[in-house]
Amino acid sequence: MLTIILLGASGQLGQALQQDLTALGTVLTPTRQELDLTDLAAVKAWFAQQQVDVIINAAAMTDVDGAERNGALCEALNHQLPAALGAIAKEKHSWLCHFSTDYVFNGKKAAAYVETDETAPLQQYGRSKVAGEEAIVASGCRHLIFRTSWLYSSTGRNFLTTMLSLAPERQEPFLVVDDQTGAPTSAIDLADAVVSIFSKIFAMSQEEARAVSGIYHLTAAGECSWYEFATTIFHYAVDEDLLEQQPEVLPTDSQSLNRAAKRPANSRLCNDKVNTTFGISMSPWQQQLTECLQLIKKHTETGK
Ligand SMILES: NC(=O)c1ccc[n+]([C@@H]2O[C@H](COP(=O)([O-])OP(=O)(O)OC[C@H]3O[C@@H](n4cnc5c(N)ncnc54)[C@H](OP(=O)(O)O)[C@@H]3O)[C@@H](O)[C@H]2O)c1
Repeated sequence: MLTIILLGASGQLGQALQQDLTALGTVLTPTRQELDLTDLAAVKAWFAQQQVDVIINAAAMTDVDGAERNGALCEALNHQLPAALGAIAKEKHSWLCHFSTDYVFNGKKAAAYVETDETAPLQQYGRSKVAGEEAIVASGCRHLIFRTSWLYSSTGRNFLTTMLSLAPERQEPFLVVDDQTGAPTSAIDLADAVVSIFSKIFAMSQEEARAVSGIYHLTAAGECSWYEFATTIFHYAVDEDLLEQQPEVLPTDSQSLNRAAKRPANSRLCNDKVNTTFGISMSPWQQQLTECLQLIKKHTETGK
């Protein structure tokens, strides 16, 4: 039986992973109250007492605009924590699974980004995520770093849940950018893929498993702008009876919104490597969105 330690289990990806990982082994999920992940001495002391086969780090500072104001917290969680986990994983001969982002790129490439493309983040969040990736690779531990994009889930605060909660009372049109392109990815589908990848890895020989250590892009299939994502959310939400009517959505550009952190215009990540290596094929973003809305509907109907 494998022992898996999942950090950030209360986050949107962490919740989805926690559900799925029990199929692989015993899952330990220290809470923020039990383990403050900015306190690296405490993190090292806590891990010193654990036997662990896989460390999964779903914890991060994910407030992209907030990171511009609070660089120290961003650096602690997105760079120093993964660096410490890399060293721990190396020492304990365990796997480290970590998550990164499309924001490691500057978005100037015309095609979808591949894993070997040069990173060039536009904001503090992206810089801290690149530093976290590099520290894990440098640690020499066996690792899987999954870069994903535009993550959402049925719970917590994300673009989907924010849009759905604001829509019923909204008087004025939503203004949503149409000059950033990416793949909205459901935390549930991402978690399913990660667990499937680990079950394949544990069926491999030591040598085969070592060879697949690395960085992978893992997002929903297809692409859209945030504007198209918003209009599709409302369209599907009406179909699922989650909204009575579609609110008006107008396209705008990133410059007009004047947010603290710059975002890449092209956030598209190519999933070919994960497909070739592990046979993972992600479903289209529209299908993932439909399934997530159906889950929200089920939660609403059952009150759970
Ligand atoms: N969100 C996106 O659009 C997106 C896009 C691309 C990549 N990613 C990456 O995907 C991963 C998962 O993101 P997510 O959206 O699921 O994150 P999230 O919902 O913001 O969850 C973050 C998790 O980190 C925990 N955490 C933060 N500070 C902590 C501390 N000091 N001590 C202990 N725990 C702490 C949070 O605990 P509390 O609940 O106690 O706060 C929460 O469990 C991250 O690596 C992120 O960079 C996200």
